[in-house]
Amino acid sequence: MRTLLDPTRRRAAPRARAARAARSPAVSLLGLLAPLLLILALASSCSGPKEEPDGVKWLIGVSHANLTEPWRITMNRDILSEAATKKGLRVVFTDAADSASKQIDDIAHLLKLGVNLLIVSPVDGDALTQAVTAAYQKVPVILLDRTVEGYGYTLYIGPDNYFIGRSVGAYVRELLGPRGGRVVEIQGRAGSPPAIERSTGFREALAGRPLIRIVDSFGADWLRDTAQDKFASRLKRDGRVDVVVAQNDTMALGAWKAARAAGRAGIRFIGIDGFSGENGGINLVERGVLTATFASSTGGKQAVDYACDILDKASGIPKKIFLSCRRVTAGSLVNAASHPPIAGLGRRVVLGYAQTGDESAWRTANTVSIKAAAKRADIDLRFIDCQLKQANQIAAIRSFIAQRVDVIAFSPLVETGWDEVLREARAARIPVILSDRSIRSSDESLYETFLGADFIEEGRRAARWLVSRLGDHAAARIVELRGTEGADPAIGRKQGFEEIIADHPSYRIVASVDGDFQFSVGKRVMSELLDRGLRDFNVIYAHNDDMALGAIEAMKERGMNPGKDVTIVSIDGVRAAFQAMRAGKLSCTVECNPLLGPLLMKAVADYMSGKELPRRIITAEGIFPAETAAAVLPERKY
Ligand code: AHR
Repeated sequence: MRTLLDPTRRRAAPRARAARAARSPAVSLLGLLAPLLLILALASSCSGPKEEPDGVKWLIGVSHANLTEPWRITMNRDILSEAATKKGLRVVFTDAADSASKQIDDIAHLLKLGVNLLIVSPVDGDALTQAVTAAYQKVPVILLDRTVEGYGYTLYIGPDNYFIGRSVGAYVRELLGPRGGRVVEIQGRAGSPPAIERSTGFREALAGRPLIRIVDSFGADWLRDTAQDKFASRLKRDGRVDVVVAQNDTMALGAWKAARAAGRAGIRFIGIDGFSGENGGINLVERGVLTATFASSTGGKQAVDYACDILDKASGIPKKIFLSCRRVTAGSLVNAASHPPIAGLGRRVVLGYAQTGDESAWRTANTVSIKAAAKRADIDLRFIDCQLKQANQIAAIRSFIAQRVDVIAFSPLVETGWDEVLREARAARIPVILSDRSIRSSDESLYETFLGADFIEEGRRAARWLVSRLGDHAAARIVELRGTEGADPAIGRKQGFEEIIADHPSYRIVASVDGDFQFSVGKRVMSELLDRGLRDFNVIYAHNDDMALGAIEAMKERGMNPGKDVTIVSIDGVRAAFQAMRAGKLSCTVECNPLLGPLLMKAVADYMSGKELPRRIITAEGIFPAETAAAVLPERKY
């Protein structure tokens, strides 16, 4: 029997109310939600729960920061057109007109309306944190474009502004060549995160090229007219400019108009966004106004796709998705699509995977996840265990190229040394996906996407937990057990940890040794330290659980009391770590999710169907202090 407290019933009523309001047009809906600007789009499906009598399965509420900037108008259009392809999906949206307090009210109204999921593009991440986090207690929340403080949301989708800036910088280097030139940078709204990140990436890409000079940089609020006025006065002061880099296409168009009015020819204009339609970036490149634009999706389409997956309780939902960008010039217009769909193969998709080896419990779980997901997705997986040797991984990738697999994926043992073999893959037109670990290369185009954890954040989490446990001013003498030398997780986890303890001078790393992510090596190096007389330490920070467990063994063998005399924090969250926590030996584990198989197979399938892959897909992860171990252990999947 359903009671009034039945949550499905409580939710069904407002959804049905909204659906009725939407059927009988805007008047009744506006009556229902007077303070909001609301528009409804009836569309079609996620598979959803049982259908309402009017055919609506899910109601999604979208809270926009504003609907005046071209970027946001396009984002809304992307959301609506993607929603229109899904059966039984209804979208309701609001416009906060750039007011954080209005957006807080909008979110409250959308929740009252009974939305099943919220998509929020915040006016201001800090001001919206509380409202978003509170909403997340009730329904899944997808953040678009800007994030909030902490992790009180389901999924973030946004551009990789730093990557966009670097890509623009790399292009300017090509364009100006060794002779260099004078560049004017037009930024969006001063101090806004995308303006800062694009500018940082841009400047970093120009580092080491002193002949390319940024002679002026000013903000124009993302607006065409402001850019036009400001660039016109710049030209009056000093007209010696070779290239204008604007942080969106609209501002680039404004600057171009100013140059034309001043009779200035020969300046090249570069923009960002690459929208289609009249005066969109693509059209401006076609007309020769812009030399290039960097096209990036608004994330609206992806938000609706993931909303359906989340509502359908699909596995492998990441925590953050950073969208890719694509350079569009007159020469590349013909091939504006990133790649054609590889449909109708008439056979199974072939995926080559070069695994690092089997160094840890994490890696074993990762391998199991990849193999199981490939089977479920009916993908022909060619899997090679590369025995912790970079040379073996390179040979494996070459063998995949020779076999002409459809996609190559691998977890790079170390960050560098991949350029040559990845260029061979590119020459053979085989896309490469980095799974779990990333690479460092000046050529950003050597791989399609990265999927895995944020290792720097994991290091920060370990340090934050430590400080919260021991106190701000505790005398912490830390032994660090590092992962494989040169590996992405070892570098990131060290960096993130050191970043946090830098604010706490009483926290010192007294010894730091390479434990190669292995139990046996962790045990050996810890034994060596102890046998050399190291006793003056009260913390162990291990870059993975296996090394921490090895160190615990070494300490036990020497009559020490790990977990009591020494606080031990490590990363991964494997079952053995939970058992050690339950036994009082380990103090905390920071999760690093090895279950990447479903994400990888989705990326492969998306690529094969012609979809543009995000630049980075970051997994959802938690943190587990010892006190949670007993309750959490039975649910652990690895
Ligand atoms: O790259 C992920 C790391 O590699 C895991 O944390 C570690 O256990 C593994 O071997």
